[in-house]
Amino acid sequence: MTRLASGQVFYSPTRLPKQLDDGEANSLAPIFKKQNPNDLQLANLPRHLAIIMDGNGRWAKLHGKSRFLGHKAGAEVARKILRYALAKGIPYLTLFAFSSENWRRPQHEIDGLMRLLENYLDGNSDTFLDEKRVRLTVFGNKERLPPALATKITKLEQDSRNNVGMDLGLALNYGGRAEILQATQRIARACLAGKQRVEELSEQHLAAALDTAAFPDPDLLLRTGGEKRISNFMLWQSAYTELMFTNCPWPDFDEKKLDKMLIEFTTRVRRFGASPEAEQEKIQEQE
Ligand code: FPP
Repeated sequence: MTRLASGQVFYSPTRLPKQLDDGEANSLAPIFKKQNPNDLQLANLPRHLAIIMDGNGRWAKLHGKSRFLGHKAGAEVARKILRYALAKGIPYLTLFAFSSENWRRPQHEIDGLMRLLENYLDGNSDTFLDEKRVRLTVFGNKERLPPALATKITKLEQDSRNNVGMDLGLALNYGGRAEILQATQRIARACLAGKQRVEELSEQHLAAALDTAAFPDPDLLLRTGGEKRISNFMLWQSAYTELMFTNCPWPDFDEKKLDKMLIEFTTRVRRFGASPEAEQEKIQEQE
């Protein structure tokens, strides 16, 4: 076993299978318990978990409800997953709550989503303000958001900035390409102003100019709702992220389903571009 600075643990592929179905993943739980009951709690968890919460509309249709009620049910799941991730000790959680393309939806659906977002921030203000356990950062462009929501976000970001426990990233009016473009413009301006030399630019400079600069790259990106694509989410940051997809629509997602995915995550062998042989050697050195 070897541990990266990110906290991610690599297991020798000979010890655990790479891909598991649900049944197999369940049968792994006792192995982790036997090794160390805290394994799944801390060491093997993703440091940064990012989630594309998809399938609210289809869930609503299936249950004969309005799309708004689908999103409302989704917001409740987002509340539960935030608390669960906090209890588990996952230090960074990002939720994709509204994409820069979602403005193409009917105005009444957009209004409903904005209302739910405001309620979500109010409803979780205990974690932000009273318990001071969650620090909020919003990724994306706040300018197009309803002014009351934008003001609430700015205040919560400020009031929670010294909180320790967990960082919650809410991607709101967010698009990965727009984020990269904006970062490039920031860097170009610094170069034109003579504050930055073009020859000295590195990947770190670009990462630091992104909205997510204070977050590590996601270790695990989950998408619910059955689609298998990234949809313009964290394009730069997810270069080496483990991807997982589930057909479960977001309103039906829960702590148990997340646990199963976290167990599968512990079995993924992450090489970050190194060859399996090089990784094996590193593992043997550490054992
Ligand atoms: C996709 O469902 C989901 C969204 C557009 C945004 C996610 C929003 C929520 C979970 C509710 C508000 C969030 C918070 C954090 C309060 P969809 O409508 O695209 O589903 P469909 O693909 O089945 O139509």
